[in-house]
Amino acid sequence: MKQWQIVDEWSFAGLKLLDAARPEPGPGEVLLKMKAVSLNYRDYLMVGRGYGRMSGELPLVPLSDGVGEVVALGAGVEDVALGTRRLPCFIQTWFSGDMGPAGFAGALGGPLDGTAREFMNVPVASSVPVPDHLSDVEAATLCCAAITAWNALAEMPATAVDGGTVVTQGTGGVSLLALQLAKDRGARVIATSSSAEKLARLKAMGADETINYREVPDWGKAVLGLTDGLGADLVVEVGGASTISQSMRATRADGTISLVGNVGGSIAEVNLPLIFMFRKRLAGISTGSVADFHAMMARIGETGFRPALDDQIYDFDGLSRALQALPKGQHFGKIAVRVA
Ligand SMILES: NC(=O)c1ccc[n+]([C@@H]2O[C@H](COP(=O)([O-])OP(=O)(O)OC[C@H]3O[C@@H](n4cnc5c(N)ncnc54)[C@H](OP(=O)(O)O)[C@@H]3O)[C@@H](O)[C@H]2O)c1
Repeated sequence: MKQWQIVDEWSFAGLKLLDAARPEPGPGEVLLKMKAVSLNYRDYLMVGRGYGRMSGELPLVPLSDGVGEVVALGAGVEDVALGTRRLPCFIQTWFSGDMGPAGFAGALGGPLDGTAREFMNVPVASSVPVPDHLSDVEAATLCCAAITAWNALAEMPATAVDGGTVVTQGTGGVSLLALQLAKDRGARVIATSSSAEKLARLKAMGADETINYREVPDWGKAVLGLTDGLGADLVVEVGGASTISQSMRATRADGTISLVGNVGGSIAEVNLPLIFMFRKRLAGISTGSVADFHAMMARIGETGFRPALDDQIYDFDGLSRALQALPKGQHFGKIAVRVA
């Protein structure tokens, strides 16, 4: 079989498509013939050992996201049918409840070998079945961004009415999934982005209100204007240092900021009394457990939900090129790669 590996140096020069032995499933595992994989910004950073020790050791198979067809069963596996599709969960060792101190030690695509290969073994207990209505490329996008958006929205304050008012930032994978999942739960969504064209696409996807954060740098105030001066119930924060002050402004008293990402930097200066005087809550979000995946997949199956994909879908050979396109930010929705 073929697999992508960061082989001998942490760089794109070290990322190669190589031949490898097809694995045999061990006890409790199934062998997946991978159908599609998808990309996250984390995968781009991982090639340069962007997560330090948590990146793992070389050689490393990159990528956390993918979906595969079950083609062989390991010893003791009885409740999984050959020919069905499964999705490996992002953190293989987080089954339910708190993440615990091991945290990202069980994460695919660094430090554990990831999904960028034609065949991979996965424990049944660390993977979930995929709803039939999803195509392979759609299903492949759900491992990291969707579970993160799902758990970001789970932080909605109990006092929110009618599904709550949610602010999403930009048109990256997490934010579009947060928009879609927030609409599914009946929320009113205010979405920000950097261009009129992207704002129009956000509207077409169901955003109730949009704000161009380039033209309106004080967009937190604009959110107040759209919410009778109160602020949103929940902000899904992906900008990090460049957006956190506006997010705090945009959040209502007793509201929540689900802190997901740092595309605009990691070190921020924050006005702390704004948090404690108005009882705002900053909730750190870190993907989700296997139990969260089961809950999310059940909902996706019930609703017929489809994640937004970028128009360009890459071939397996083009995976390195696809990764290197990520920081250009030209995509809208998840970037997927067909494997088979
Ligand atoms: N905590 C977790 O478990 C977890 C899981 C997945 C991802 N993440 C993190 O979440 C962040 C987003 O990931 P992603 O995969 O969705 O990224 P992505 O697909 O690369 O998208 C990033 C988007 O952010 C938007 N953006 C950039 N600067 C912005 C700003 N100042 N204000 C508002 N939006 C801005 C841009 O959208 P526009 O061009 O439309 O403005 C851009 O397309 C990353 O930091 C990633 O590491 C965290």
